[in-house]
Amino acid sequence: MLLIATAGGFEHFVGRLHPLLLHFPIALILLAALIEGVRYVFGRREQPSPSATTCLWAGLLMAALAVWAGWELAEQQGDTGGQIALHRWTAIACLVATALAAAAWVMRRTKGRDWTGPHVAMLLLAGVLVAVSGHFGAELVWGEGWILSSGESAEPLDTDRQAGGPATWARVESIFMAHCAKCHGAKRQKAGLRLVPWTAIFGGDSADWVVRAGNVEASPLHSAITMPRAEEGAMPPEDKAEPLTSAEVETITQWIQAGATGPDGQAPPDGQAPPESQVPSVPEAPPATSPPTRGDQDA
Ligand code: HEC
Repeated sequence: MLLIATAGGFEHFVGRLHPLLLHFPIALILLAALIEGVRYVFGRREQPSPSATTCLWAGLLMAALAVWAGWELAEQQGDTGGQIALHRWTAIACLVATALAAAAWVMRRTKGRDWTGPHVAMLLLAGVLVAVSGHFGAELVWGEGWILSSGESAEPLDTDRQAGGPATWARVESIFMAHCAKCHGAKRQKAGLRLVPWTAIFGGDSADWVVRAGNVEASPLHSAITMPRAEEGAMPPEDKAEPLTSAEVETITQWIQAGATGPDGQAPPDGQAPPESQVPSVPEAPPATSPPTRGDQDA
């Protein structure tokens, strides 16, 4: 089948549909809630409106598809953290509320007790939830506070402020905060990676650490910020953000070489720090220890 033949397999294909699908449940559920809400206020309570009914059932189907696609997308991107959780669970709550509204619709159509109240109430709840979830989702893409922002991104931190001084964690942290924390910070951890605070870099299984104190070549983080922009795995991702300046790359490089020390000058756990580098000073020599090979970029 054509669908399955797309790069990355069927799940990847489903995941990439999320940005397309998500607009349908938003429009359909809000419309159904609006129509039934207005009819309720004006006392038209005998039978559900045919157009609201169409929106409700189509909205339920599209909400289920959008939730599925969104789930796949987050899995693919290794996307975790509080912001994703808020978006995911409000979306699932919306799907449940829409399903309950559909169930109430069925009850309303079958003779017996009057189910108009529960039907309209569930539709309104689903409408609120779809709006809230949509807002969290937009924050994931556009950044927090996007709705009130002027469209300009946050004022860039002056990361070169102390240029020339020792490559301390404080300087590296401000670079990470400015360029990486959006995806590898407290709220969200793409690829399960968190870069701030310092302890987050050296948490978990040491085999997964992206910084190898004193060893630039062996640090996946260093390859990620120095590999050609077009290559997969280049950070920050080419389509999402501006690259680091060479001064910023240099600061990070020196920090790693000097032992990747923490806020108090402490060495990372596991005794990985190189000798005599408690207070990181700037080594002038570039890392010319291994011959340049193309293979050093595939970390
Ligand atoms: C727009 C979101 C985004 C930004 C900003 C971003 N990254 Fe990433 N990062 C990702 C994604 C997605 C992945 C996993 C997929 C990939 O490798 O492309 C990833 C993977 C990585 C990895 C590999 C993790 C592993 O365990 O293999 C490193 C290292 C990394 N990023 C470092 C950085 C650094 C350093 C910055 C800032 C200079 C940065 N990233 C900025 C989204 C981002």
